[in-house]
Amino acid sequence: MNDCFLRACHRQPTGWTPVWLMRQAGRYLPEYRALRARYSLLDLCREPALAAEVTLLPVRRFGVDAAILFSDLVIPLQAMGVTVTVQENYGPVVADPVRRAADVERLRPLEPETDLAPMLATIRALRRDLTVPLIGFAGAPFTLACYLVEGGPSRDFARVRALLYQDAATWRALMERLTENIIRVAVAQVQAGAQAFQVFDSWAGALSPTAYREAVLPYLQRLCAALRPLGVPVIYFATGAAALLDLLPETGATVIGLDWRVPLDQAWERLGDGVAVQGNLDPAVLLAPFPEVARQAADVLARAGGRPGHIFNLGHGVLPETPPETVAQLVAFVHQTSARVARPVCVSAGETPCA
Ligand code: CP3
Repeated sequence: MNDCFLRACHRQPTGWTPVWLMRQAGRYLPEYRALRARYSLLDLCREPALAAEVTLLPVRRFGVDAAILFSDLVIPLQAMGVTVTVQENYGPVVADPVRRAADVERLRPLEPETDLAPMLATIRALRRDLTVPLIGFAGAPFTLACYLVEGGPSRDFARVRALLYQDAATWRALMERLTENIIRVAVAQVQAGAQAFQVFDSWAGALSPTAYREAVLPYLQRLCAALRPLGVPVIYFATGAAALLDLLPETGATVIGLDWRVPLDQAWERLGDGVAVQGNLDPAVLLAPFPEVARQAADVLARAGGRPGHIFNLGHGVLPETPPETVAQLVAFVHQTSARVARPVCVSAGETPCA
């Protein structure tokens, strides 16, 4: 078992800097596109054999140090009774947006063992095959609320921001319901075998620090506190969060994921040394010739400075135009450049402990 990623989450020394990439199983991979020619995204998520196969693609191909469950943040929304689809090159679209107190009542408590049976079956199957840790995930309460209230992707989430000021009681009811359901999802994923849990707060950057502290942070604290007894690291990833960095350790997360807009060393200083950090190479860099990729990846590693508690990742998901060969070169570069012990070749198959 290659436990380098889990050790880094807990800020323990590791033989090299672990690396995995958000959206590492996605449209940039020809094998993934071949499957998507036959199945919709949500079909792939709902068929455990296929979801497990897709999860394993980047692990086998690149030797990354962690796998992330192949699923989508709309799956739990559907389990709450929301009619939501994912439109290609656009994102989630909610048929009947949440705007009033009565709309919140429509969100039902989900029962993971029945409502999320394929997701949990995927996790159990993966744990039989994987030799790197498996990361489970869900959307953060705020990011799920963004899709529910706006009805789809939005440039500035004005409706969401308006709701939390106009009708704080409805906002709180919505966030409470989402938080309780996300806790159920997380607990079920961990009980099925997920060894870490990432909370994606993709739209947190839409809020002012005051609004974030009052309307979002308490629910993240509740989520992280509910997960703490399970003993798995919680990674909190927010994008556009430069103005929120000082608040993020208050979530109680073990690891803070950084997007590419903040220099990793300065961000870590603001977060303090009570958390590990994950990130944060700009995904667009992977469209450049490899010498530029290497230069910028080396800069991220230099800013981490070999301190325990850095997990190399991109600052957001792999772009569909990314050459898979560049990802292969990046993973090898991070492993070689950060190696503090000789890293046996067989480690890409996950056969060697890393400490
Ligand atoms: O990271 C991984 O490899 C695991 C799989 C994963 C997917 N979605 C599969 C997927 C994860 C972790 C997610 C989370 C997710 N889904 C987020 C949070 C992360 C982020 O990007 O901020 C969000 C916002 C969503 C909602 C969503 N689903 C969007 C915005 C899109 C893109 C729409 C598009 O076509 O560009 C999706 C679709 C989606 N989910 C794809 C994948 C691989 C795109 C490819 C496809 O349609 O098959």
